[in-house]
This record gives sequence, structure tokens and C-alpha cells, in this order.
Amino acid sequence: MHLGVNIDHVATLREARYRTMRDSHNAEPSVLAAARTAELAGADSITAHLRADRRHMQDADIDALKNGISTKLNFEMGNTPEIVSIALRMVPDFACLVPENREEVTTEGGLDVVGQLEALRRTVGQLQAIGTKVSLFIDPEPEQIEAAATLRVNMIELHTGTFANVAPGALRDVEAKKLADAAVLAHEAGIQVNAGHGLTTENLPDLWVVPHLAELNIGHHLVARSVFVGLAEAVKEIREVMDTYPQ
Ligand code: PXP
Repeated sequence: MHLGVNIDHVATLREARYRTMRDSHNAEPSVLAAARTAELAGADSITAHLRADRRHMQDADIDALKNGISTKLNFEMGNTPEIVSIALRMVPDFACLVPENREEVTTEGGLDVVGQLEALRRTVGQLQAIGTKVSLFIDPEPEQIEAAATLRVNMIELHTGTFANVAPGALRDVEAKKLADAAVLAHEAGIQVNAGHGLTTENLPDLWVVPHLAELNIGHHLVARSVFVGLAEAVKEIREVMDTYPQ
């Protein structure tokens, strides 16, 4: 199982202090240095989200990552003309299309693939034409997966936020079952199954009822753990739990 490390919140930390003076030679922490640290500790890819409002990652960060990492870049992106044209120029290894609202603190729900089928079809086609493998971030709902299959995407990323944020026990198990059913459906349609959002060393074992998981994308927990143990150790901790995935 591959680990994608989302380092948006390394940029969030820098922006908290240096938003108005990014050119300062003091500006830290370095997004690229964080990515390389994560890679050395066991990340298989680096995920970064260039939001329309540039609240964390900046265009220069994405360029630095594209040129400086030694694994793969997973470009998380809203389906807007500006961001799509940046992706088409940059040619990331992977692109994960996500919904984006200005007011949200983080990506709140999956894409409405059913409702945006034609707009997504165009972008998926453009990205695949340049050799980028495309993923759609979606809730574990059968109709969304069926719609994703009609777009011939390479991957879906199942939104695990609801699963992750409910209390452990019966409620979490219900959410895990939805994710498991969705994973089976996607796998049968020939789509690679990834998952992400809110995943931690605590909740991962409860996710292991979900079959066919090829990749997890994890961000906040790793950056939060870094405060206490450092990023390399945080990545190693999550890898250790990932190694217990039964399939
Ligand atoms: N996958 C997607 C599509 C996301 O939007 C995010 C959050 O940026 C993540 C994974 C990582 O979520 P978290 O930061 O909660 O681990």
C-alpha cells in the first residue's frame, strides 16, 4: 500500500507568519525540505493542493516540489480554468480533482461527479492526454462511483472524513462498511482505490475492513505529530500501522 504525504500544512505554518513577507530569507518551514524528509522516511508520493485562494501552497511551492522531489507529485486541484491550465503546463504525475469552497476550512465533501459529469469529462481527458493519472475525490456513494467509471479515471480517492471523525464503535463501523462497499464497486469497475482525509494511527486499524486499498493520502495528522516527534518519525509511525493492512 502506497503512502501519499500531504504537506499543505507545512505551507500553512509558513503562511501563518510569513504571508506578507514570503521573500524573507527567514521564511520557514520549507515545503520542499519537508517533502524530501517525508520521502526519506517512506512516503511514496507527495500531495499538494494549490487552492484558488492560495491559503497555503503557493505557485512557487508547486514548482519547487515538481522539480525537487524524487518520488511522484500528486497535484490536488479544483476543476477551475486557472488551476487546470497550471496543471496542464506542469504535467504532474497524478492529479486528484477535489471540490473547493472558499469558506471551508478543509475539503469538506467529495466531488459531485454525477452533477458535474461533462465539466469533469473535459478536464479528465485533458489531463490524461498529457500523461497525468487522474483521481477523483469522492464520497463512498454507489452513484458517484458509477459516474466516475464512465469517465474512465485511473483512480478514485474515497473520502474517509466521516469515518475518521465519528467516535470509534458502531457508528464508525457503519462508515467503514460504506467505504468497503464503495471500494468493491470501484475495483470491479477497474479503478484503483485510494483513500484519504482525517486518517491517523488511531483510526487506521478500523479502516482495514476496506478491501483493495492501493494508496492512502495523509496530511494533518502527520504535520500535527511532527510537533512532538518530527516529520520523519511521524511518517515512520504511520507506515508501521499501514504495514498491518491485511490484504
Ligand atoms: N485527500 C484529499 C483529497 C484532501 O483534500 C485532503 C486534505 O487536504 C487529504 C487527503 C488529507 O487529509 P488530512 O489532512 O485530513 O490527512
